[in-house]
Amino acid sequence: MSLRTIDSLGSLSGRKVIVRCDLNVPLKNGVITDDGRIRASLATINALVAAEARIIVISHLGRPDGAVEEKYTLGPVAERLGELLGKDVRFASDTVGDSATTTTAALRDGDVALLENLRFNPGETAKSDQQRQAFAEQLASLADAFVSDGFGVVHRKQASVFELAKLLPSAAGTLIADELAVLDRLTESPSKPYTVVLGGSKVSDKLGVIAHLLPRVDSLLIGGGMLFTFLAAQGLKVGASLLEEDQLDVVRGYLDEAKRLGVEIVLPTDIVVASKFGADAEHVVRPADSIEDTPFGSSGLGLDIGPDSAARFAEVIRKSSTVFWNGPMGVFELAPFAAGTRTVAAALTEIDGLSVVGGGDSAAAVRALGFHDHQFGHISTGGGASLEFLEGKSLPGLEILGWHA
Ligand code: 3PG
Repeated sequence: MSLRTIDSLGSLSGRKVIVRCDLNVPLKNGVITDDGRIRASLATINALVAAEARIIVISHLGRPDGAVEEKYTLGPVAERLGELLGKDVRFASDTVGDSATTTTAALRDGDVALLENLRFNPGETAKSDQQRQAFAEQLASLADAFVSDGFGVVHRKQASVFELAKLLPSAAGTLIADELAVLDRLTESPSKPYTVVLGGSKVSDKLGVIAHLLPRVDSLLIGGGMLFTFLAAQGLKVGASLLEEDQLDVVRGYLDEAKRLGVEIVLPTDIVVASKFGADAEHVVRPADSIEDTPFGSSGLGLDIGPDSAARFAEVIRKSSTVFWNGPMGVFELAPFAAGTRTVAAALTEIDGLSVVGGGDSAAAVRALGFHDHQFGHISTGGGASLEFLEGKSLPGLEILGWHA
């Protein structure tokens, strides 16, 4: 690994530096519900303030499809960033129009501006190389140097992540450097026993990482919506729970492969089954092989792992020296279905070794459940990015900064 760092850019005093952050925070009715990604971006921005640069922060928020969608404005983020930096953050209402030009031209040394959501411009995520290049050229014309610090998007070949880095003197910020230092420890001879806990809704999102990790881990714990595809692959009925039928054969392949390698795949033995999706749903705990044996029959929905499973997961986690966790165990946003995620999070805080929480959703889950960042070895800001890193994939946003898998 040889990542170009900010020092390689030389003196930045008086120079305009465009910084790609991942400020994609969860919002509810225009209010930020978890500002973890903004906090994680402060170190680099503060370092640039101290270096007397003129700082132009850029980010995406959500997935607007190349057009302005008011609910995805970065306005609330500009305000929060200003509060956390303890200084005024000027907000430009576009990325490459008049507002961006005048706002960035007025910056003095140490000033910070945030441009509006990059994904309001179709060039940011365009499939066409030329379109992305054209947008990146417009962004580049605003600045003298580029710092890439949005770890959560390094797996995206997008204009502000990839093309922009080729157009200006560029380097990685400290967030990316810190993330890589920890994730490297998970790939380069992690201390054993090594346990990976996967949750979240879709098996198909996790296929690559399961395949890559099986030969490397001692235990793989499966929770979240994806567990039902694992149960169904063993012939069990799962009611109306999430099920990816097209992944059943792949999952059977993993179960066989795990047996061959002597890797323990731990599946839940009990499930919290609900009458419907909602905090006011009736719910009961049932053994994993009797999910349909409830008053709700085949319309019952599994929304969390049960208490026995959570206790078993916690036991495996506590005995581990390295744990990586991605994806909630159940629908933690609804209080009756948060216990599994809470138990797993608590176990991670107790291990004598390295615990890593990967991803926006999992990070937001642990904070929403009352845990604090310092209770974990590391909370990654990148969900998809950390998974793809662990899959050993080449990540465009890192390669362009001189790093190779
Ligand atoms: C994330 O939330 O994982 C990052 O911000 C990337 O967002 P994306 O999946 O919409 O590219």
